Amino acid sequence: MSEKILVIGASGQIGSELTMGLRKIYGDSHVIASDIREGSSELMNSGTFEFVDATNKEQIEQIVQKHTIEVVYLMAAMLSGAAEKNPEKAWDLNMTSLFHVLNLAKEGVIKRIFWPSSIAIFGNSTPKQMTGQQTITEPSTVYGISKLTGERWCDYYMSNFNVDVRSIRYPGIISWKTMPGGGTTDYAVEIYHKAIIEGKYECFLSENSRLPMMFMEDAIKATIDLMKASNINNYIAYNVGAVDFTPKEIVKEIKKHLPEFEVSYVPDFRQKIADSWPQSIDDNAAKRDWNWEHTFDLETMTSEMLTRLNEKYAKS
Ligand code: SER
Repeated sequence: MSEKILVIGASGQIGSELTMGLRKIYGDSHVIASDIREGSSELMNSGTFEFVDATNKEQIEQIVQKHTIEVVYLMAAMLSGAAEKNPEKAWDLNMTSLFHVLNLAKEGVIKRIFWPSSIAIFGNSTPKQMTGQQTITEPSTVYGISKLTGERWCDYYMSNFNVDVRSIRYPGIISWKTMPGGGTTDYAVEIYHKAIIEGKYECFLSENSRLPMMFMEDAIKATIDLMKASNINNYIAYNVGAVDFTPKEIVKEIKKHLPEFEVSYVPDFRQKIADSWPQSIDDNAAKRDWNWEHTFDLETMTSEMLTRLNEKYAKS
């Protein structure tokens, strides 16, 4: 029988699709979804859902015991843009929730943890092209500081208490099912919705801001593959790469399908965040250690996003 899994933050952008992906593999009854707010009807109707505040250890512990959980995916977090506006709340959510889960593993209550890190751990002093697995990490954002600190705590718990915690430094994640909330890479999701609904979009990053990105299907595969892998003792948090592009390049690709699409560029406070992040990622360690490989490029991702969103909006 497979292990019982709890996803905390299951109503969020990655959490919701990760929960569905895990349910498909391990069975609906083996994957418990939890969040502070309700998720999509697909998520709510496909298995058990529990309301949980990720900063409340008793609540997490109660759900873990009730469902005899062994593996936790902690997906609750405040992203980069939102965190700049609420530094203390972001720090509290991103760090407190991690400590709760790490301590449950240290106490032997759970066996394994997935916790997402981000390209935000890198900063202005990091080499921007093909940013390496081990390089300068001097993040300049609240979110980046929380993710880098989290990586160090995960490493500490692994080295000192033998906790099995695994992590991926996600780039911007692009999906058509759930919207991201408060990130710097959100433009690359919004732009597809606006292209279909309004035919125009005002982009909050400048046209030449290159950032590493990944289609959701690849992100879910990376996450599940890393959790299944054995022999991954080299790093706590792995770089994973897929595509990198600028707003100008994504617009060009969308225009192949929607030639009338119009975009204007009005950079806001998130430009500074984008400017501090890598432009492309060296993911050789993930390739070597657990056979990571991405599937979607800008062309295939754009065609999938536009097809799926067209169907979705046609139905609503
Ligand atoms: N997508 C995230 C953000 O923009 C990066 O991890 O905040």
